[in-house]
Parts: sequence; structure tokens; C-alpha cells
Amino acid sequence: MDLKAEISRLKKVKNAVILAHNYQVPDVLDVADFIGDSFNLAERGLEVDADIIVFCGVSFMAETAKILTPHKRVLLPSLAAICPMAAMVDVATVRFLKKEHPDAAVVSYVNTTADVKAESDICCTSANAISIVNSLPNKKVIMVPDKHLSAYVAAHTDKEIIAPKGFCYVHSKILPAAVNAAKAEHSNAEILLHPECPAETLAMADQILSTAGMLRYVMDSDNDEFIIGTEEGMIDVLQRNAPTKKFYPVGGVCVQQKKVNLERVYDALNEEKNEIFVDEEVARKAFDAIQRMLKAGRHD
Ligand code: 13P
Ligand code: SF4
Repeated sequence: MDLKAEISRLKKVKNAVILAHNYQVPDVLDVADFIGDSFNLAERGLEVDADIIVFCGVSFMAETAKILTPHKRVLLPSLAAICPMAAMVDVATVRFLKKEHPDAAVVSYVNTTADVKAESDICCTSANAISIVNSLPNKKVIMVPDKHLSAYVAAHTDKEIIAPKGFCYVHSKILPAAVNAAKAEHSNAEILLHPECPAETLAMADQILSTAGMLRYVMDSDNDEFIIGTEEGMIDVLQRNAPTKKFYPVGGVCVQQKKVNLERVYDALNEEKNEIFVDEEVARKAFDAIQRMLKAGRHD
């Protein structure tokens, strides 16, 4: 069976759209109606005109789409596609931090579960973390769960940042040695790094950007060569949009994002299975935090 043709047919019959994160495998990107970063996908989830969203990414992204559009059915092709960093902070930890710091605002990275978002004043993504924190009236900000993103924000604000010790196992392994080695081989290449990387690596960046920010930067740049410090799948997205430019990856693979494949997209859509549900009360509170973030816009 030609899976791509069959998925296309099913999309029409079922009035479904496929949203895919930039780290998805090329076959999945091929069938996607929209490809983007976490901010783009949250925005698109809200706007999309369809009965079914097949969300090719990890579970927090599908949950965000469901929270924004509760009347649509959201399917996640692999229910095992769970961001390990999002599992590094729970509601009890956020409540404890709120008790310890009652005057602090709570900013949750979009890489969190719905119930953590529901405990938050506002969400952020890699595209707007600094501006969201700086926009808050509070002097103190609890920022969960990524210690590297929080350190990056802390370096660009006067606010006191309280952060637990979560991390992305892919980005935290992008170390200065790898960037140095790539730069030694490709001296003209610009270094684009994701803010989930450690501070010592970010110190080497020409630009610190979300994944969609990297794509926009590459498309607008006169430069032809780039060292890319994020999950390796980003290279496929950059290469298909800028086929004449050269990209040198220094990031590894996110196993969880790669749990989605063409067969699973087909099965999810064909059987309408792996539907995502979010508790109504949790969704109502989380909606406010996500909406505030969307209203603030992106700043990368
Ligand atoms: P963005 O694509 O939003 O920059 O996030 C990267 C990421 O790690 C998502 O899981
Ligand atoms: Fe989570 Fe990192 Fe994978 Fe993104 S790349 S889904 S932050 S583990």
C-alpha cells in the first residue's frame, strides 16, 4: 500500500490535518499540512479548521492542541512519544515552589504536562522565554522545568529566577567541544544554538534561536553554512527549505520524537485511535496560561 497516498485520502475523507514538529522524520514531514516549532504548532492548533488533528510530535504538544481546541479530536500516533523533560516537573513541585515563594509568578515552558500548565500564570516557548519573563510585574519568577533555558533567561533579565533542575537530554549533551570541532572544520559557518543547550555552549553561539527561528534566520541570511545545535531532525527541515545551503549538526537524536512514523500516522488516522484527552478543569486553567503566551507573541 502507498501509505502517503492513503494518508492523503484519509485526510480528505475524515476532514483531518496533520501538524508536525520540526524534529519529525522526513516521511512524516512529507504528509504534514503544517511543520513548525512549539509556538507555531500551538498557534496553528488554535486556528486549524478540521475535525481531527493528527499531531506528529510528543504528548505535551498534542495536549496543548487539545486544550486550545477541545471540540476537535487530537490523535497522537505514538502514545509513547513523551518528552522526558516534561516529566521532570510535577504539580507537587510547582505547588511547593509557590508556597516557598508566594510573591513569584510561575512560567512553565510549553514542554510540561497539562496539569503543570494549569498551575502556571503563563507558558513560554523557546521563541519567547525572555520576553515573557520580562513582561511580568513580579520581581521573582519560578520557571519550570528546564535549568538551561532558565539560566539563559536569567542572564537576560533583572528578575530572580527560581528553577528546578530539569533538562533536555538531547540539548544538554551539546557541549563546546563538538561546536569547536565543527567550527574548526567549517570556519565560515555561523553557529545557531537552541536555548535548551548548556550556558557554556550558548556562549559560543552567533544566534540563539527556537527551531522555527533557526529556519527563518537561515532563509534570511546571506551566509551559506551553519552549525546547527539542536535535535538532528532539524537538518532535514533546513535542507528541504534551503537546498543549496550547508548544515553541520552538533546535536543528537530525540528518541521520543522519532516514535512517530508513517505507519503509526496511518494507523492513528485510519482507526482514529490514540486520542488525547485532558481533564476539563485542568484544561480550563491551562488554556489561560497558553492563551496569555500566544497573546504575547514570539520574539525570536
Ligand atoms: P522548539 O521547536 O519550540 O524550539 O522546541 C524544541 C524542542 O525541544 C521541542 O521539544
Ligand atoms: Fe523533549 Fe528534548 Fe526531545 Fe524536545 S528534544 S521532545 S525537549 S527530550
